[in-house]
Amino acid sequence: MIPIARPQMGEEEKQLVWSALSSGMLAQGARVRELEERFAAFIGVPHAVATSSGTTALHLALLAAGVGPGDEVITVPFTFIASANSILYTGARPVFVDVEEPTFNMDPSLIEAAITPRTRAIMPVSLYGQPADLSAISAIAERRGLALIEDAAQSHGAAIGERRSGTWGAGCFSFYPTKNMTTGEGGMVTTSDAELADRVRLTREHGMKVRYHHDIIGYNFRMTDIHASIGLAQLDKLPGYNRRRREIAARYDAELRGVITPRVPAGVTHVYHQYTIRVRQRDAFVERLRELGVGTGIYYPIPVHRQKPFIALGYGEQSYPVTELLTEQVVSIPVHPSLSDDEVSEVIGAVNQVAAELGSLEPAIAT
Ligand SMILES: Cc1ncc(COP(=O)(O)O)c(C=O)c1O
Repeated sequence: MIPIARPQMGEEEKQLVWSALSSGMLAQGARVRELEERFAAFIGVPHAVATSSGTTALHLALLAAGVGPGDEVITVPFTFIASANSILYTGARPVFVDVEEPTFNMDPSLIEAAITPRTRAIMPVSLYGQPADLSAISAIAERRGLALIEDAAQSHGAAIGERRSGTWGAGCFSFYPTKNMTTGEGGMVTTSDAELADRVRLTREHGMKVRYHHDIIGYNFRMTDIHASIGLAQLDKLPGYNRRRREIAARYDAELRGVITPRVPAGVTHVYHQYTIRVRQRDAFVERLRELGVGTGIYYPIPVHRQKPFIALGYGEQSYPVTELLTEQVVSIPVHPSLSDDEVSEVIGAVNQVAAELGSLEPAIAT
């Protein structure tokens, strides 16, 4: 079976982790600082603050932007639940706007109508490794005096022109094992705003700048030096990993038939955390691919507003037609950098065969 993800751990990761273990310095220390500095340089911002996960990165960035009880944050329902949960953790309420069909990302034309006097921030998600329309969204945020928190959990190294995901407002990355780079568990907030970075740091460690002097109520959302050691080795490999993901995606774009393939606007660098196609008869499609030895993933089968906790909060009756359509059609196929050329050919052969068996899906709109 060709799996949907295959995290790569080499000698470099093992040696760095071993040296961290041997040093006896296990908690947040020099390795975390080094990862912060090098990740900031890679993204192209002056500040990066490492966290225990992508979820805690989002939570801290929202708190640092001043989001709290009674506020609203505009985000999308076509995402992993952590985007919306992080808003709830602050006491604020997520307000959903639908996504655009061709890119799977936040539709900027729907934002203005969702803004109320309570709106404090906008949280676009750069889904599957493709940046949301951050130029348009940040222009709205600036005009309306709102914070911009990008959920960049899946978009390490993605860019619009020369500008990388994570450089608009605050970028929140995840280093979960299946992501384009990993630390095991971990996350990072990136920003050009020195004050925001300071607030994230303070809240990450129990509001403590001077040892055992606490200025605010904070959390323990720190990364360990063990996790940062994995990240340092992975960051060196990230550009090569992303190149390989894009190479595989280019073959899929050119050779897949009878399914809708991702659309990438001109000038955008997609880093293919997932290569997500849209198919007819998805359950049968997935089952046939499994029989042919190809693993798949469904990201995501249920929109956030239809998840049980959100139904309990009164979101269940809301309707986001594009999201609801996409959650029925999307399938991600293997695109991880360790795939051999033969495995890529096998995936293409299998997808094309199943699409021919089950009938092709054409874009309903011009793309
Ligand atoms: C879009 C999105 N947001 C947030 C997260 C949360 O990241 P983590 O799992 O590191 O907490 C993830 C990752 O799983 C994600 O894919």
